[in-house]
Amino acid sequence: MKGHALSAPLLVSHDDAASSARPSAVVILVLCLAAIASVTLTAVMLHGPHYQPSLIGDAPPTSARPVIGVVTNPTDESFREAFNLTGTSYIGGSFVEWLDKGGSRVIPLPYDAPENTLRQLLRRVNGVMFQGGHSIVNSSHPNEYMRTAQLIYDEAVQMNARRPNSFVIWGTCQGFEVLAVLEGGWQILTRTDAESLVLPLPLTHGTERYSRLFGEAPEEVVMALRDQNSTTNFHEWGVSPTDFIQTGLAHSFRALAVNTDRIGRPFISAMEARQPHLPIYATQFHPEVLPWNVDHTQAPNNQTKRALRWLSDFIRDEAARSPHRFDSAGQLSRFDLRNFPKKAVKYFDWLYEINVHKFPLNL
Ligand SMILES: *[C@@H]1O[C@H](CO)[C@@H](O)[C@H](O)[C@H]1NC(C)=O
Ligand SMILES: *[C@@H]1O[C@H](CO)[C@@H](O)[C@H](O)[C@H]1NC(C)=O
Ligand SMILES: *[C@@H]1O[C@H](CO)[C@@H](O)[C@H](O)[C@H]1NC(C)=O
Ligand SMILES: *[C@@H]1O[C@H](CO)[C@@H](O)[C@H](O)[C@H]1NC(C)=O
Repeated sequence: MKGHALSAPLLVSHDDAASSARPSAVVILVLCLAAIASVTLTAVMLHGPHYQPSLIGDAPPTSARPVIGVVTNPTDESFREAFNLTGTSYIGGSFVEWLDKGGSRVIPLPYDAPENTLRQLLRRVNGVMFQGGHSIVNSSHPNEYMRTAQLIYDEAVQMNARRPNSFVIWGTCQGFEVLAVLEGGWQILTRTDAESLVLPLPLTHGTERYSRLFGEAPEEVVMALRDQNSTTNFHEWGVSPTDFIQTGLAHSFRALAVNTDRIGRPFISAMEARQPHLPIYATQFHPEVLPWNVDHTQAPNNQTKRALRWLSDFIRDEAARSPHRFDSAGQLSRFDLRNFPKKAVKYFDWLYEINVHKFPLNL
């Protein structure tokens, strides 16, 4: 299974950190059989018969310090109690720090904000990130969250249709799962045993040359990701290569890398939109986490650090193609995440609390 999984870029994995349920033997068996049967088909489906050259150059860079709207995660009651939180939602500090290092600024897009507020903010931010977090599958507000995700996704598709490659979407871990579910439905997620699992990133065939995400990456970045224990996984859900194809996700997304979990089940660990005018990317792993901080047997190295940081630079460069602007510096500062309450919290290190009842609903 392991050998097959590495060469078959079928699986998409899912994230999440909180629980560790055991997948049933039946599910595992089915996945294994399906994966073996579909290795050949998968290689074609994952990448497509041929790559489209990257059209990222369509929209010229316009903003040196672009603003990324990060979609907030619901704070369940148990989560609020455990960490003494009062906000209706939150953003993990590590995602913000990572975006900040790449040169992006951050504002929150509260999952529970009214539609009108979200639409107004989407016309001003330069891109959107769906962050990681405890699984949306288990959230107390999955439908409300997914409604907001759908709205953002639909808006992004329209904006990029009007002006190609002008509005980037990035998903990390849970964010990867959210994008997968938007296209493939909830059934696309399967149990994955990949909590605190540090792995190299086995790129699918041709990805380092032809993908939008890695096609123009420095060789050092590609080598670090591919050959070293560079990526940190925290997920109990994932997308298998089989489901990636059977749910139709493969029509919209190209699988860029496939890993295997602790018991050998393949999962898709990076993907990007197939349409050449749509800058949508997602990783099941956490580029904001340095692997040696999770697995203490791993030696720190600068190549991995630079490669993970490069992904953040990539988002900034993509977002810089967006012509969107806030009306004024004052308007932007009302939404600047740094002006929201910050709380030290185990597991996240810190997070920003967003209370929709105190959020400025009108711009
Ligand atoms: C999430 O939901 C699944 C299915 O309902 C359940 O098996 C699992 O234990 C839940 N995990 C957490 C962390 O609540
Ligand atoms: C909970 O947070 C509030 C402020 O938000 C603080 O006043 C209070 O002391 C905290 N309680 C505990 C148990 O940490
Ligand atoms: C990656 O980590 C595994 C498990 O700790 C180890 O066996 C392997 O040698 C590491 N690979 C590299 C390239 O460091
Ligand atoms: C990593 O980079 C730092 C400076 O950024 C340098 O001091 C250190 O020696 C480098 N480590 C290795 C192993 O190259």
